[in-house]
Amino acid sequence: MAAIETVIIPAGGLGTRFLPATKAIPKELIPVGDRPALQFGVEEARASGIRRTVLVTGPGKEALGAHFAPDPRLESALDARGQAALLEELRAIDRLTELQVVVQPEPLGLGDAVRRAAGAVAGEAAVCGLLPDDLFVGAIPLLRQLILAYERHRCPVVALRRCPPSEIGRYGVAAVSGSGPIFRVTDLVEKPGPGEAPSDLAVMGRYVLTPAVFAALERTAPGALGEVQLTDGIRGALEEGPVVGVEYSGRLLDVGTLEGWVRTLVELLPDHPRLGPVWRAALAAHGRSGPAA
Ligand code: UTP
Repeated sequence: MAAIETVIIPAGGLGTRFLPATKAIPKELIPVGDRPALQFGVEEARASGIRRTVLVTGPGKEALGAHFAPDPRLESALDARGQAALLEELRAIDRLTELQVVVQPEPLGLGDAVRRAAGAVAGEAAVCGLLPDDLFVGAIPLLRQLILAYERHRCPVVALRRCPPSEIGRYGVAAVSGSGPIFRVTDLVEKPGPGEAPSDLAVMGRYVLTPAVFAALERTAPGALGEVQLTDGIRGALEEGPVVGVEYSGRLLDVGTLEGWVRTLVELLPDHPRLGPVWRAALAAHGRSGPAA
């Protein structure tokens, strides 16, 4: 049985919640420490055994693909300056994945972004999906946890996280059977209203997708805002066969909003090998509550 070898990373959105910072820079390239957010996602996929990435971008977001491609001009400049370690660090980024870029001409939703990648993954029994808005922190890469569930159940897989009632309405929510941590998903409700959530298990941005999901996305008509939701594709696959959900171990840190990005920096930077000492020294110099007026 062939292993999953491709991840689809949708990055064609407008990043409006990160404006004005993302007016000219794609949200997915905002740095978290020394690396852009997108690199964390590609590294998670690589650590999960994935060798190929189909990156769905939007018009004007060419810089996303450029981050994973060799830059001969930069490389020869670093070489001439004797910056061998930095040069090797950059070359390691180029080797992270075999990249294919697909353009989503208009941001018509996550489901539309994913179905734009269908041609690039035709013939594969299953592929992973990863939203770069959330960085995973934990012992076993999250995509790896989903791939293990796929290898047992051979069907689409979603990542599930327990959410308090005050937050559950922001997510797609799974109705499930079984006792976990691997559940059988029986239905999905996108952004339920108060009291309408079928459980406290929210669908987070990691998936295993099969041809049944792509076929359902093709059948899905755009919703009220002209958008196609990925949830609709997975619900369509539910009509064809089982879908499982994994209540994963580890945590996802939101870098898709300015507020989440600030919280993520506070959480990750103290332990960063190069920036941790700088971060701690700066905090000490200014006092923990910030510089004096
Ligand atoms: P988000 O809704 O978080 O991203 O989608 P966004 O649309 O860029 O952000 P806001 O809401 O305007 O602030 C999650 C992921 O799906 C991608 C985004 O780029 C992001 O990585 N996406 C979203 C697409 O690729 N295409 C779309 O049409 C929508």
